[in-house]
Amino acid sequence: MKLLLIGGGGREHALAWKLAQSRAVREVLVAPGNAGTAGESRCRNVPVPAEDVPALLELARRERVDFTVVGPEGPLAAGVVDAFAAAGLRIFGPTRAAAEIESSKAFTKDFLARHRIPTAQYRVFTELQGALRYVEQRGAPIVVKADGLAAGKGVVVAQSVDEARQALADMFGGSLGGAGARVVIEDFLAGEEASYIVVAAGTRYVPLASAQDHKRIFDGDRGPNTGGMGAYSPAPVVTPQVDARVRAEVIEPTLRGLAAEGRQFTGFLYAGLMIGADGTPQVIEFNARLGDPETQPILMRLDSDLLELLSAAVDGDPGRAPPRWKPQAALGVVMAAGGYPGAIRKGDAIDGLGGDFGSQVKVFHAGTALAGGQVVTSGGRVLCVCGLGAGVRAAQAAAYAAVSKIRWSGMQFRSDIGYRAIERENRGNPA
Ligand code: AMP
Ligand code: GLY
Repeated sequence: MKLLLIGGGGREHALAWKLAQSRAVREVLVAPGNAGTAGESRCRNVPVPAEDVPALLELARRERVDFTVVGPEGPLAAGVVDAFAAAGLRIFGPTRAAAEIESSKAFTKDFLARHRIPTAQYRVFTELQGALRYVEQRGAPIVVKADGLAAGKGVVVAQSVDEARQALADMFGGSLGGAGARVVIEDFLAGEEASYIVVAAGTRYVPLASAQDHKRIFDGDRGPNTGGMGAYSPAPVVTPQVDARVRAEVIEPTLRGLAAEGRQFTGFLYAGLMIGADGTPQVIEFNARLGDPETQPILMRLDSDLLELLSAAVDGDPGRAPPRWKPQAALGVVMAAGGYPGAIRKGDAIDGLGGDFGSQVKVFHAGTALAGGQVVTSGGRVLCVCGLGAGVRAAQAAAYAAVSKIRWSGMQFRSDIGYRAIERENRGNPA
């Protein structure tokens, strides 16, 4: 079979790598891909932008693509699944209406309230004065979020009322373009985060392995939010009891609610959760896609055929091809360009990628490009270096051994990815 994978980040490199290993796959076209997918066997980059739906449709027809997988949220919000399905093409991903669970935070918060799914108390504001009054009344810590897609960066966890005021002034002042016109203000949730992703087809679903990412730029989970600086799987905070509660209290009512509202969801449904000290899950956000960088460690652990799973979902029953997992843990360290998550420099040559990293390591590319045969930086998050190991600590050691062999001017990465899980392991309470 010939596949089309839409996207060009780290998540898509991992998807392309895994899909190319599927038994039935002859070739994976990646639109537009990156330098990592360009170097992957049985993968071929095609220079079609991920959000150009008419050009993607034309590509799929011209190349006689049998099955399409959508990586990022942009093309979902642009209606790529609706367009492919209307043209009779097989595609894995949610429709535009179903993907609104990610693209509008205000829709999601109202949806959660309607279906009594646990989440932080919140209000939606469209003008500054009312928002300021609400923040002053509720006090800090408090969380201020721009509505709409802002690439994971439209969220400020304000530790003081002043910080919240500043965030509101910025968002209503247009710092995030159109995404800032509506702002959600919600109570701060305490606990430990986990990413819980399922492959869904309407109300049927199978969970993927649990994961946890680190959103803050600096060690110790400090500094501004990013798209994610590293991740690991499994997430020890998702014990079997927590897992059962997440399914019953979050995933199932969400899939039922979406179906009941005419937004039947087929695709990867990602629940970003805060797990309280007593194991209570609360929804922070939903994504209508796989997480990045969670995908990289999750897919490193996947021991079964990914295409069979996604194809079974498009046929209505992902449970027909349930995933099997390696018993090891996997951990990915994001190497980012200098300046990220602010303004970054592009075009720096990356050294050390040609080294022998061994069978327990995989270097996934994110923001990379080829310039005259040399791999250069072309985005904020540049690489996600993944290691496999008997536990999170061993996976971390494998990943950082590889990180130490790679360098470019201005690179930055966190040195503590996985620390919470390793603390749990040290307490003799591994996953
Ligand atoms: P979001 O884009 O909604 O996932 O938010 C990005 C990050 O901000 C989350 O992964 C959390 O680390 C943090 N965050 C968002 N909402 C809350 C909340 N209500 N309480 C505590 N932290 C939050
Ligand atoms: N790593 C979080 C996300 O993909 O949204």
